[in-house]
Amino acid sequence: MTTPDYASLVAAATQARLRAYAPYSHFAVGAVALSSSGLLFPGCNIENAAYPATTCADRIALFNAYAAGERDIVALAIVADTLGPVSPCGTCRQVIFELAPHAVVILANLRGQQRITTPLELLPDGFSSSRLQEAQSSLPLS
Ligand code: THU
Repeated sequence: MTTPDYASLVAAATQARLRAYAPYSHFAVGAVALSSSGLLFPGCNIENAAYPATTCADRIALFNAYAAGERDIVALAIVADTLGPVSPCGTCRQVIFELAPHAVVILANLRGQQRITTPLELLPDGFSSSRLQEAQSSLPLS
């Protein structure tokens, strides 16, 4: 797979952002995940009156790709109308770390600014399945 065209990924994420459902925060976010098969999976944030039920754009893009059976995510672009490139939340950093560990991550805003980064840079020493194997003891099951 050749280097993804960052500008077209940001453009697709910007389009996805227009579909955000954000009546509470009014903070619209768009994202797009690119799989190794060349398919694009959009995401936008979808909020809920029960606030914790809100799901971020970045996670929805990745879940969308996984739900379609794609596992090899080569790029993830995220866009919001922020002063600098958008900063993904902690939960999304954890999900990116697990679901798109080898992806190039493009953080952008509507002003044309971009930051190219990686899941590891976004979440150094993140929790992963290998950590689950490290447990030295377990509680007895009742
Ligand atoms: N949001 C995202 O969609 N992605 C992020 O990485 C940061 C936050 C959304 C969640 C919520 O709908 C709004 O932005 C304000 O937090």
